[in-house]
Amino acid sequence: MTQLVLSEYRIMSDHEQQVLFPELIKKKRDGDRLTEGEIRDFVNAVRHQTIQESQIGAMLMAVWYRGMDAGETHILTQEMIHSGEVLCWPQEWAGLVVDKHSTGGVGDKVSLPLAPALAACGCKVPMISGRGLAHTGGTLDKLESIPGFSIHQSAEQLRHIMEAVGCCIVGQTESLVPTDKVLYALRDATSTVDSLPLITSSIMSKKGAESLSALVLDVKYGKAALSQDIKSARALAQSLVTTGSRLGMCVGAVLSRMDSPIGHCVGNTLEAIEAIECLKGRGPSDLLELVICLGGCLLKMISKVDTLASGKEEIRRVLENGEALSKFRAMLQAQGTAAEVVESLCATDSDYFSVLKRAKFRKELEVQEGGTVLEVDAMALAQVLYKLGTGRAQAGDPINHSVGAELLVRLGQRVVRGDPWVRIHYETPALTSELETILQGAIVIGKEGDLNTTALVTEFIPSDLEN
Ligand code: URA
Repeated sequence: MTQLVLSEYRIMSDHEQQVLFPELIKKKRDGDRLTEGEIRDFVNAVRHQTIQESQIGAMLMAVWYRGMDAGETHILTQEMIHSGEVLCWPQEWAGLVVDKHSTGGVGDKVSLPLAPALAACGCKVPMISGRGLAHTGGTLDKLESIPGFSIHQSAEQLRHIMEAVGCCIVGQTESLVPTDKVLYALRDATSTVDSLPLITSSIMSKKGAESLSALVLDVKYGKAALSQDIKSARALAQSLVTTGSRLGMCVGAVLSRMDSPIGHCVGNTLEAIEAIECLKGRGPSDLLELVICLGGCLLKMISKVDTLASGKEEIRRVLENGEALSKFRAMLQAQGTAAEVVESLCATDSDYFSVLKRAKFRKELEVQEGGTVLEVDAMALAQVLYKLGTGRAQAGDPINHSVGAELLVRLGQRVVRGDPWVRIHYETPALTSELETILQGAIVIGKEGDLNTTALVTEFIPSDLEN
């Protein structure tokens, strides 16, 4: 199923390399454009470890400082894709293989209901997802709160699950875009993560290696997002869409707000439960809106429907009639969850904590003044939960799946002093009074007229995706 298409590796002498890389770094540092051959030499050297780490770091900083144009970004992405395995699907799936990527948010559990909903609409969904790092949660961590669920699937198992179920959610294998692992770790160490061409090539190389028919991107902006404002989110979305198109992919993006958490739950186990509730047709409205919108976009992009409205209707239908839940049930079982656990989670009136681990302690905090709930600061909430054990400082660190928060109020809701607004689930470390003070600063109460009524999904790129 997989294909190894390494780009041609030009064998260079040590002397040639000693001269070449300082020259390339200087060229980029001085604001010049790198040629296709030069970018290829750089990526190949990263792949084959024939360049010093200090030189990679210097090149990353030069790119961070000077940027790359759309042509250079495209070549960098293409070379990264072909530095490893490229997935390859049966001919009869042509036009049906889809995925979505989110730039990361607090409470973002969209992938869990979206993958089975798309499978229920006849798509093939090989979701290769990530773990959470720092304050953002990861799809894989949410799924791993379900006993038995395995995110490690061989290429053959992946193909089998895609055939039998239509969707699977797995971790990235070692052989898919190996250069991204090297570059990402060095970007972290050299403060060069926040670079448009480097983010674009990192995201699009991994998606390009999945050989998708269509990809939808959820580019978030706001206090708890990678992009703090809509302008930078638009620039990122445009760069991702342009690079995807140059690679011959069908890519669309939506820009969505990320100030308050998505849904009512934050934390791995709680988010898994909320995602399953969504599959039972009982999801919170903002989560439902994102699942329906992103799914609708993909159905339109692969021409399963003519308009976004009819795509959304299809996704809503499979969420309401239980077809998406059936796909989720089959996916859980195919990825290792025991039948009794699956049945217990998917029962209409499930007692989730009969199979999922519940945190030992729970505490409700009360609002300290009356008024309208204007915002729940997702970043502040996530940072407290991170300290309580939801997140990792470094890849590989352990996390506590059962830690999390349930929001007991909705944006726009009127509250009076003393109303409970959040229930924190915690174990060790304990919820200290200092953390409680930070949490109390996360809820913003004010006048109803000050409520931000901007739509959750604000913009589509390209703009005709919306029609
Ligand atoms: N996600 C990625 O995979 N890479 C980046 O550079 C940023 C977000």
